[in-house]
Amino acid sequence: MVSRRALLASGTSAIASCLVSAQAPSFAEFEPHLELFDAPNDQSQDQLARNEGYWERVRSQYSLDPKFVWLANGPGGNAPRQLLDRAKAYLEETATNASYALPEFASILESGSSAQLRARMAKTFGCDDDEIALQRNTMEGTATCVYGLPLRRDDEVLSSVLDYDACLSLWRLREKRDGIRLRLVDVPTPAGDDDIIAAFASAITPRTRVMMVCHMTTNNGQIFPVRRLGELARQHGIFFLVDGAHGPGQLTFHLHELNCDAYAASLHKWFNAPRAAGLLYVRRSRIAEIAPLFPDASLSQTTAEKFEYCGTVQYATPAVLPLAFDIYDRTGITNREARLRYLRDYWMAPLAKEERIQFFTSADPRLSCAIASFRVKGIEPSKLKKMLRERYGLRIKSIEEPEVKGLIANNVAASFTNSIGDLDRLLESLTSILRST
Ligand SMILES: Cc1ncc(COP(=O)(O)O)c(C=O)c1O
Repeated sequence: MVSRRALLASGTSAIASCLVSAQAPSFAEFEPHLELFDAPNDQSQDQLARNEGYWERVRSQYSLDPKFVWLANGPGGNAPRQLLDRAKAYLEETATNASYALPEFASILESGSSAQLRARMAKTFGCDDDEIALQRNTMEGTATCVYGLPLRRDDEVLSSVLDYDACLSLWRLREKRDGIRLRLVDVPTPAGDDDIIAAFASAITPRTRVMMVCHMTTNNGQIFPVRRLGELARQHGIFFLVDGAHGPGQLTFHLHELNCDAYAASLHKWFNAPRAAGLLYVRRSRIAEIAPLFPDASLSQTTAEKFEYCGTVQYATPAVLPLAFDIYDRTGITNREARLRYLRDYWMAPLAKEERIQFFTSADPRLSCAIASFRVKGIEPSKLKKMLRERYGLRIKSIEEPEVKGLIANNVAASFTNSIGDLDRLLESLTSILRST
């Protein structure tokens, strides 16, 4: 890591004095202390999931809003303070053009990506280096596939009623432009793997060209049987795209084993990178047929790097991604997944016994992890959300999208930034609401 001193010593005094006058933070102040994230290695998975001392140390690394307990971590996660401070320092450097002298930026391409970053993503998520591209978010990777796949009028795309509305909107635009047809498969809430497979198998027609599903849905946290759906898609020669927004950092998976042709994901949710970090995996044999959103003829058209170029981007987020990967490795994905499930069970199990509460998420660990949805009979979800916010300082989500069948619900997603105390507060508040309404 270059220090202010090193910059001065390298003769960039004009740049350095400009930095001093702008009171930019010194890099020396941000030496990382990643050892704070090291998971104890002498405990079983179960012991570690309940080790409040360890998780409190992890939690102390985040800046939290003292006004609220944030239990809506599905839409967006937090990044640890150390990463944000480092990103802020990088931002200052780019403001002065001093970034050209930074060794950390030397390997970063115009897209914000680098060969090292692609290799790190590939190793972490289980594919080859040339099958993965850095993106800003899940939407970008999904849009690349939606608009880049060669489809003709009357070709069909199958997705589900539980898929993310903004991703479905991408296909709606293709419907308008190219006359393709988007069909949504009905899926029970909650569903077992066999229900989902049967629903998709019976919806496939000779015109089906693409299937798109969430690895985990945002609305009820349902984990889809991606491997089995991938087999089904392959049997019918269908392109299989997975919306993995909630995968990285929450679920243990290996891309090559998921049987998908493409997987678009965010790293700023459960993986806890700063905002605007995501990835797109495309199986090597399918890369050539997908046109990039921003064509760059100088890049090989048979490696995923062709999906990265998008004009000028901010380097601060990609420059701290190596640290985000270090933190991820130090906490360990199986530990993360076990902790998230433990937190979810902690609040879900007592509520499941309440007569007035109906869950739309299965507690089966194969079918869900951090996110779960429920409805309190007699209280509109938006009203419950408001009551929890105004009376108890708790932030949860409400879902009232009529097109999402069966899901008029509230949704809780606890993360590494939540303590057991937060969940006790949720349980006490809900119990009090149940008793008084
Ligand atoms: C299932 C799902 N897909 C896609 C997205 C979009 O993610 P991003 O905004 O990071 O592109 C979200 C966001 O919450 C989501 O929940």
